[in-house]
Amino acid sequence: MTLDFMPWEASLEAVDRSVPDNHLFTFRLAAPLSFTPGQFAEISVPGIGAFAVSPAFCRDTEVLIACIRRAGRVTSALYTQDIGARLGIRGPFGDGFPLDAFEGHDALLVAGGLGMAPLMSLLDALLRRRDRVGQVTLLYGSRDPSGILFRRELGEIAASGEARVLFTVDFAAELPWEEGAFVCRVGLVNELFSEVSLVAENTTAAVCGPPAMYGCVLEQLAGMGIPAQRIFATLERRMKCGIGQCCHCVTAGTFICREGPVFSLARLRAMPGAI
Ligand SMILES: Cc1cc2nc3c(=O)[nH]c(=O)nc-3n(C[C@H](O)[C@H](O)[C@H](O)COP(=O)(O)OP(=O)(O)OC[C@H]3O[C@@H](n4cnc5c(N)ncnc54)[C@H](O)[C@@H]3O)c2cc1C
Ligand code: FES
Repeated sequence: MTLDFMPWEASLEAVDRSVPDNHLFTFRLAAPLSFTPGQFAEISVPGIGAFAVSPAFCRDTEVLIACIRRAGRVTSALYTQDIGARLGIRGPFGDGFPLDAFEGHDALLVAGGLGMAPLMSLLDALLRRRDRVGQVTLLYGSRDPSGILFRRELGEIAASGEARVLFTVDFAAELPWEEGAFVCRVGLVNELFSEVSLVAENTTAAVCGPPAMYGCVLEQLAGMGIPAQRIFATLERRMKCGIGQCCHCVTAGTFICREGPVFSLARLRAMPGAI
């Protein structure tokens, strides 16, 4: 089911506040909604407004879990809501990551900051179809160690060996920073590329992070030999309607909400100004 125009009720079930200003919110939905990793919903706070969010896990269709940064008016209002508060939800919107493109290939996921949220749902989906995907590697860059999202989940995945997980941070007190299954370098996320051995032509990549990251990372992945049609990135634009009606998201003549937000590098190269 898709809730296009009218929000349905979603009640706030839990909030994990372990990362400051990047809390993990659990919403209980009145109607089951099925998301593909990379798709998005519009969460509304009554009387305030709405904002776009990508689920961090796409498992239970009656629950939506999302990592939400306190950015401005609406997200700040969400941060003040009590457990049980009645909110609104519309979605799922847009095209997510094409899971079929990962089948039979190694997967390389490159996340920066909050970009880890949609990639967490992709990583989770890939590990649930482990028999159909080759080696899975996550490269994740964060500003500092305390800002690392999904620390427990990623620690468990790293410890189990289901995926290779490499972190990098902009700042850390000690070099290199290590803790349990985490191995962390200091530097930019693309500096981790030299630590990954992959068969480029058999790899599918997914990238999500701040716009500045796309400029270097996407073409660098292509330069490593990964085909541009199998390098995927998700674009963040100011979304309003989410369904191709308001034109808020239009970039290079493309409705990002409807035709994206996930695009291949091959497509992005034909969209001037998109990255
Ligand atoms: C497809 C999609 C998925 C998203 N997923 C998540 C998610 O999982 N978690 C999350 O925390 N956020 C996510 N966002 C971003 C979130 O929708 C914005 O941060 C939203 O604007 C917050 O609403 P607000 O009213 O609190 O802040 P606002 O008052 O709208 O904005 C706060 C500040 O951020 C700037 N800003 C807001 N949106 C954008 C933008 N798109 N590009 C550049 N600058 C912007 C504003 O100019 C302002 O300075 C996603 C956005 C998109 C389009
Ligand atoms: S968000 Fe309204 S047209 Fe894309």
